[in-house]
Amino acid sequence: MDLKETIEGLKEKIRGEMEKISSHKIFLETKMKFLGRGGEVQSLFKGLKDVPKEEKPAAGKLINDFGAWAEKIFDEREEKIKKEELEKRLNSEKVDVTMPGKEFGLGSYHPDTLIKRELVDVFSGMGFEIFEGPEIETDYYNFTALNTPKDHPARDMQDTFYLTDTLLLRTQTSAGQIRVMEKHGPPIKILSPGKVYRSDQDATHSPMFSQMEGLVVDEGITMCDLKGMLDEFAKKIFGEKVETRLRPSYFPFTEPSVEVDVSCFSCGGKGCRLCKGTGWIEVLGAGMVNRKVLSGCGIDPDKYTGFAFGMGVERIAMLKYGITNMKNLFDGDVRFLSQFKGQGGTV
Ligand code: DAH
Repeated sequence: MDLKETIEGLKEKIRGEMEKISSHKIFLETKMKFLGRGGEVQSLFKGLKDVPKEEKPAAGKLINDFGAWAEKIFDEREEKIKKEELEKRLNSEKVDVTMPGKEFGLGSYHPDTLIKRELVDVFSGMGFEIFEGPEIETDYYNFTALNTPKDHPARDMQDTFYLTDTLLLRTQTSAGQIRVMEKHGPPIKILSPGKVYRSDQDATHSPMFSQMEGLVVDEGITMCDLKGMLDEFAKKIFGEKVETRLRPSYFPFTEPSVEVDVSCFSCGGKGCRLCKGTGWIEVLGAGMVNRKVLSGCGIDPDKYTGFAFGMGVERIAMLKYGITNMKNLFDGDVRFLSQFKGQGGTV
């Protein structure tokens, strides 16, 4: 067949194929068929060996021109198909700005944090300053200076984790009282929050828990001041109608010592499950700072008096939020924690 005709035929075929190209992948396959190795253009060149010598230059030129023409056609088509594909992608990935956004899984404050903040708020409102002591304490600050020398039976009240003979994980934030009294003379009005440790575990006890200790020392401080402050605290934390009562108790570092109850905020004092039918709930220990403790810290007990109190933060949280198992406070289960969503402001 005449070479010119063959080339015309191929051109026709290429134009036809161009119409059918619907993706860049098909484009590349088509291009290979004509311009690739073993493709139509190459076979035309191969055919040159059968062309008479004098016609070879003209035939070669024809094929070269055809090749250049085809390259151009394919280049143009490639540009077009790339544009078409980009447009298709942009259309399919169009963002609908009117769609509602995905909800962010914001966390919630832990009830322990909520109650700690509330307590710190209430007491700083009454003029207490915050003091934080160390969690690893000496036996002296945790016990001896608090009028609980070695072999004192009161040491058995708290199952202690000892680190060495003289170092321990503090069992009570009361240890902070001594540090403050030794360092600063009266007047003192501090609140000492922090973690404490005891070898103890059941539904209402955990080996690690939090306490808040309060200490007020000045001239003329009496038990009435303690009672007045406790009334204020109870109303702020548990509700305006709540009252407090003091029961005699024993702590080595206070004399007299009391156990403080609040009237049941759940039943109003009539008796219910929360208050075990008594109408009262025990919330903390307190008392007038023992003369021995004051003088041990270099404070004249004839001139100064003071009161102290200490409470378990988790206990307050459990009472306030109706939590029955302390484990819930330490498990980190988001189903439990999510019930506190929205409380205490934005996380
Ligand atoms: N430290 C005591 C405890 O852990 C609580 C306590 C009782 C603290 C009476 C005090 C207090 O400051 O006066 O059981």
